[in-house]
Amino acid sequence: MEKLEEIVAPLLDWYRANNRRLPWRENRDPYRVWVSEIMLQQTRVEAVIPYYERFMERFPTIAALAVCEDEELFKLWEGLGYYSRARNLKKVAQVICERHQGQFPEEYEEILALPGIGAYTAGAVSSIAFEKAKAAVDGNVLRVVTRLTQDSHDIMDAKFRNQVTAELETIYPAEGRGDFTQSLMELGAVVCVPNGEPKCEGCPLRRLCGACSSGTQLQYPIKKKKAERRIEQKTVLILKYQDKTALRKRENKGILSGMWELPNIDGSLNEQQVVQWLTKKGLNVSKIKPPVSGKKQLKHIFTHIEWHMTCWIVTCENEGSDQELIWVTDAQLESEIALPTAFRKVYQLFFYSS
Ligand code: ADE
Ligand code: SF4
Repeated sequence: MEKLEEIVAPLLDWYRANNRRLPWRENRDPYRVWVSEIMLQQTRVEAVIPYYERFMERFPTIAALAVCEDEELFKLWEGLGYYSRARNLKKVAQVICERHQGQFPEEYEEILALPGIGAYTAGAVSSIAFEKAKAAVDGNVLRVVTRLTQDSHDIMDAKFRNQVTAELETIYPAEGRGDFTQSLMELGAVVCVPNGEPKCEGCPLRRLCGACSSGTQLQYPIKKKKAERRIEQKTVLILKYQDKTALRKRENKGILSGMWELPNIDGSLNEQQVVQWLTKKGLNVSKIKPPVSGKKQLKHIFTHIEWHMTCWIVTCENEGSDQELIWVTDAQLESEIALPTAFRKVYQLFFYSS
């Protein structure tokens, strides 16, 4: 790769002729761009689309989002994961209403100062919605750049990411800056793909690409191994009393903070131990069984933690005396309550077993 600047024209031409029609590309409303970038941060495009459309229909403006009920917000978010993203979206909407008269701020530094918005999101919104010469460097972009330049730096290293960002910003075109940001992401998403061979035959940059001309595409990007996930044993209970199921609120700290959960206990408990625990909470148990015969273990993977869940279905004869437990119907669980995926997976087992 001689000069990085040479990628600009072919990449822009390619993007303008080939970009996918995605719902957040219908216009350049900063609100729409921002919500899409937050949703896309940990989630694939195809998975995001239906969530994005429902979200925009329910909260078409910053003002509508600022005054929403948390329960409704989380219900719309259910299944996307990383609920702090939803919490921050609402917080930002409130800040914009209070301090920016409801108008999304245009300057990169002002955007970066909003809660939960980092350099990537601030770069994306300020270039895509406001045509600023700001780059948005995510995993897609790092893959493209390290292949083009055959760069062996660790892409998890923040200093290197900053360097790539600064370098890209020196080549931003005078016109089409939002398109340029998106063209880099798009190339990484559909041509210079992760997992397997990139599609170099169809790449507008193949003549400029170091990795392509030396056949070393799969050596990049270099990513140092992350720390292994911590494994936590849990015992998760589907407590049934008549047509209701018991839920609790999680503490306001740590993973899934403040979300609803099925009652659960640290460690892997057997029937006897579970009944003992429930008796202390004033619950009389008439029946306890594993969800599906022979299968009572379920795994759920978070970024840094893995839950290995031992699951029990317990039929109760009363609601007990624990004030923390609330009892809800299936209809409420379906339409009103956002139950994080780890617990929803456990709850599904009940339907396979009854
Ligand atoms: N991934 C992150 N941002 C994106 C965008 N704007 N379009 C498509 N994929 C993306
Ligand atoms: Fe990626 Fe191949 Fe294009 Fe190089 S030529 S940027 S490796 S798709």
